[in-house]
Formats: sequence, C-alpha cells, structure tokens
Amino acid sequence: MFFDMQALDGTNTYKLMGSVVMPRPIAWVVTQEEDGAYNAAPFSFFNVLSGDPPVVAVGIGHRSDEKKDTLRNIQRTGEFVINLVPASLMDAMNITATDYPAGIDELKRAGLVTLPSEKIGPGRISGSPVALECRLWKELDVDSKRVIVLARVEGLHVDDAAVIDADKCYIDGNKLDLVGRMHGAGWYSHTRDTFKLDRIPVSQAMAEKT
Ligand SMILES: Cc1cc2nc3c(=O)[nH]c(=O)nc-3n(C[C@H](O)[C@H](O)[C@H](O)COP(=O)(O)O)c2cc1C
Repeated sequence: MFFDMQALDGTNTYKLMGSVVMPRPIAWVVTQEEDGAYNAAPFSFFNVLSGDPPVVAVGIGHRSDEKKDTLRNIQRTGEFVINLVPASLMDAMNITATDYPAGIDELKRAGLVTLPSEKIGPGRISGSPVALECRLWKELDVDSKRVIVLARVEGLHVDDAAVIDADKCYIDGNKLDLVGRMHGAGWYSHTRDTFKLDRIPVSQAMAEKT
C-alpha cells in the first residue's frame, strides 16, 4: 500500500507517521511557569540528533490555536529538562499529558517530586533514571501550529545504578528500563527485549567471499 502523504489531511498523516516510526523515546519535559511553578508534559516526537555536540529535537504542536504551556515556557526561558520515562512512572507520565486547566499543579497530581538541576532553572523528575538539562538553540516553525525545538544538552543525569564506568562514560542501558511510544493511541513498548549485534570490521568483510 502506498500513501501519498501530500494528498492526505493532517489527521491522517499524523496517524500514519505515529504508527510506523516506532518505538519513539518519550521526552518528559519539565519547564518553569512565570510564577516559578513547574510544568511537565510528555512528547514522543523527540530524538537525539547529534552526540557531539549533544543536540536534541522535540516537535510540539499547538492545542487548537494556542501554544502548549511547554512551548510557551521554553520560548520565554530558553530552558527545559527532558526526563526519560521508566516503566515504573508510566501512570504518572500519563497524568501529566492531561490538559488540566491553568493553576492545577500537574506534578503534584501525578505524585511527582522534583530534584534541582545543576545548570538551569527547571527541576528534574525524581525517579526518572535520565534527565537532560537543555538550553534552547533554534526553533523551526514547521507551520503555524507546529514548532520543532532544537536544544543543546548542557548537563546529563543518569541513575548511579546504571553507570558501569563513569570515567569511560559507559552506561548499562538495560538498567534504565525505559519505555517507548508505539502505534495508535495508548500503545507503548518496553525496552527489555534487547539483542547484541557487533559491527563488521572492513578487513573481515573484505575477506568473506561474495
Ligand atoms: C506519550 C505521549 C506523547 C506525546 N507526544 C506529543 C508530541 O510529540 N507533541 C505534542 O505536541 N504533543 C504530544 N503529546 C501531548 C502532550 O503531552 C499534551 O498536549 C500535554 O497536555 C501538553 O502539555 P502542556 O500544555 O503542559 O505543554 C503526547 C502525549 C503523550 C501521552
């Protein structure tokens, strides 16, 4: 089946893209409101685009015609924390995706506690095994209702239990027990079903008969 994406409306292109590009990591973004309170919300149109320098991207759509709080706060402060989501915090993550009216403390409702960041204002979520302290670098206006935020990662927190060798920066990814966003509404995956495949040295590749 071929889908001509240019001929489809936005609802359908969204459904298709979200159903085939998966699993996607979830950026659980904490930002700071004008009154100092923290806001948290998940975004799965997210990934790392560069390791050196460390750069991440998050795609944030508007809610009706309004900017989401996360985008508003990032544009105002230039700072945010991306927490990665472990299986143990799925329910809390889901609560923070709810469109609560202004003035409701979503983190409190989700039973979440924050820890201070090192380099930026917004705190990080206690219990999340990875937190990236991000500073806004560039914004791409995809259209009038969608912005892709590119950010430099200025600090990275990893659960001590997952650090194999801090000097060599070796991390045991299996210990993080992160989840991914899957197809459709409400489907997720664990990252426990891993396997190892080593790269083939060119000498070995050239020595093999074709
Ligand atoms: C797992 C998950 C992934 C999501 N990914 C995105 C996304 O990539 N982009 C987006 O605009 N909204 C996404 N949402 C919806 C936002 O989390 C939701 O609109 C949230 O209320 C925004 O909160 P805010 O207004 O506090 O920023 C996602 C929701 C869930 C549950």
